[in-house]
Amino acid sequence: MASRFYVTTPIYYINDVPHLGTAYTTIAADVLCRYHRLRGHESRMLTGTDEHGLKIQRAAEARGVAPGAHADEIAAVFRATWPKLGCAPDDFIRTSEPRHKKAVQELWSRIKARGDIYLGHYEGLYCVGCEAYYTEKDLEQPGNVCPLHKKPAESVKEESYFFRLSRYGDALLDYYKRNPTFVQPASRLNEVVSFVREGLQDLSVSRTTFEWGIPVPDDPKHVMYVWFDALANYMTALREPEDNTRFWPADVHLVGKDILRFHAVYWPAFLLSAGYGEAELPRQVFAHGFLTYSGQKMSKTLRNTISPVEVASALSEAAAAALPGSPGAADVGVDVVRYCLMRAISFGQDGDFSLQDVLSRYGSELGNALGNLLNRVLPFAEEVPAKGASGPLEEELAGAHRQAAAAAATAFDANQPTRALDAIWTVIAAANLYIDKAAPWVAKKTDPARLGTIIATLIEQLEAISVMISPVMPVVAGRMREQLGLPPIAFEEGSDRWPMALPSRAPGEKLRRGSPIFPRLEKEKEAELLARFAPPRPDAEPGKADAKAAPEAKAAPAASGGAEVAAPPARQGKSPVAFDDFARLDLRIGVVTSAERVKKKDRLLDLRVDTGDGAPRRIISGIAASYAPEELVGKRVVVICNLPPRDFGKGLVSEGMLLTAEVEGRVRTITIEDAAPGTPVL
Ligand code: MSP
Repeated sequence: MASRFYVTTPIYYINDVPHLGTAYTTIAADVLCRYHRLRGHESRMLTGTDEHGLKIQRAAEARGVAPGAHADEIAAVFRATWPKLGCAPDDFIRTSEPRHKKAVQELWSRIKARGDIYLGHYEGLYCVGCEAYYTEKDLEQPGNVCPLHKKPAESVKEESYFFRLSRYGDALLDYYKRNPTFVQPASRLNEVVSFVREGLQDLSVSRTTFEWGIPVPDDPKHVMYVWFDALANYMTALREPEDNTRFWPADVHLVGKDILRFHAVYWPAFLLSAGYGEAELPRQVFAHGFLTYSGQKMSKTLRNTISPVEVASALSEAAAAALPGSPGAADVGVDVVRYCLMRAISFGQDGDFSLQDVLSRYGSELGNALGNLLNRVLPFAEEVPAKGASGPLEEELAGAHRQAAAAAATAFDANQPTRALDAIWTVIAAANLYIDKAAPWVAKKTDPARLGTIIATLIEQLEAISVMISPVMPVVAGRMREQLGLPPIAFEEGSDRWPMALPSRAPGEKLRRGSPIFPRLEKEKEAELLARFAPPRPDAEPGKADAKAAPEAKAAPAASGGAEVAAPPARQGKSPVAFDDFARLDLRIGVVTSAERVKKKDRLLDLRVDTGDGAPRRIISGIAASYAPEELVGKRVVVICNLPPRDFGKGLVSEGMLLTAEVEGRVRTITIEDAAPGTPVL
């Protein structure tokens, strides 16, 4: 029987519409679910909306609508958003649904029957933004200000039911000890353990001062604490409309780091109290980090400005416009956003998402590395050629594949999509390098059988790559497969489609070369997109908390790591340049494919350099006094690719510049070994 996989996202509050932060978790869950489906596991993904509580009641009141009507409206927006980001949840639960209410009331009654719920009085502080109880030491003083919402917590004094959380400290600590991967990343486990070790207080689990919640069984003037109601969704959704309880326990609850405590402490305590054994507790709670956008904290204004769906569709439009008449690129934007979210921010860490970075990854990792690999292979054949004997180059590439396929699977199994993509991109680089070394353009002239072997080898690799990228980029995987003449991936429970071993194709099968999947975007188009999605100025005043995220004070580009400090120490040399300006340089590895002297211009060499654009670019370089042309052919040099073209007269227009250094009076090119043409230099 096939194994099972069950992944959940937090259910989202409906005081907000979907934004980059919530899209991040939902996309990650979708990626993991698609991966497990590929592995032949019976897989299920759950998302939904968290609709009760004071926060939602107030949001509805502020709009002058009933909470139920507000909930219907916003839940519909969430439900409609996920498919637009390529996410295909199997179920969408709303906590206002009867199936949920009924099951939560049963859970309450079970816990009450165990003697773990009692009536008392709560007096203390409550942050409505977090829907959480706090003590003074959790809050910023003076004023009991919530560190997350920057608003004073409210004083609450009312009759309340309590859950005997204090009973479960030891059981939880034992559980963490026996299940060291229950909280991931591992560094977050310490946080949870020390919270529990400090001693758990009983938890207030009902409210009487508002009505928008699930009534407590037998005492309907109380509504349940919204987290008691919400956490149960992961189980209640499995009971109706069909019985999916076989999926319990969940393999992984994906959550943001701000809500780890609810999932890693309260939720397992509720379950233990309700009589579930350790084997029935969720297997893992994975807390991902927080995203900033272009170095700015996601304030409400920013969240509303940067809609991931709009970013995706603007990218699709730009790609389609770069290839007029070809509908091929029309929906590539969603995959680009999914890829960048999973690749640019190491899953589990905080990170920055910026359109500048998306565009640069689009050009380099997607266009130059992945797209170009396909474009470099398909022009050589209309059908799959016969594969002759493999030589050392083929062995080397097969080894790179084996390693990447195993490493990516291990990473996906550990809920680490970023590492999985890193592994997959190593084989993409290896395949590009294989083309450089195997030189099919030479074999084409001299040895057609060898050409067949090279192309068949690459077609196998491309097929394997199409499968491995499919959890993150299902649309792109489909496009690649169309061009490779392959059907969509056929999922079947119990059948593992992961290409641990390379697939092989029958010679003669048709290939269907198409237009580039990631067409190059014009600089003007990029500038237009950057302007359209530029973050608004932060809404906080200088000196207030949000102002810390202002770009002047804090630039946190993912590639640089760390933040810029205001006054760098004085050093000799040129004046400082902003990181963003530096990041605009398109520096790439190029392979010199030909070099000749320029008549009557002693200083100049006329070079052709493959920088991964398909056709080599022409570079006129003033290094003739230091290099004979033949010394340069085959060298891997560093090229600045986005300088404006420079005219040296007589039709000699240079499309870039080599990086060089003068060493003891001789100009030397900066060279690097073993990198595919087009590899970005960062
Ligand atoms: N309703 C609760 C969850 C209940 S689950 C039983 C809730 N909802 S939320 O809508 O406020 O947040 C949902 C998720 O979005 C949380 O995991 C939170 O961490 C995540 N994010 C909100 N802003 C974020 C970023 N800027 N970056 C990454 N994730 C962020 O909490």
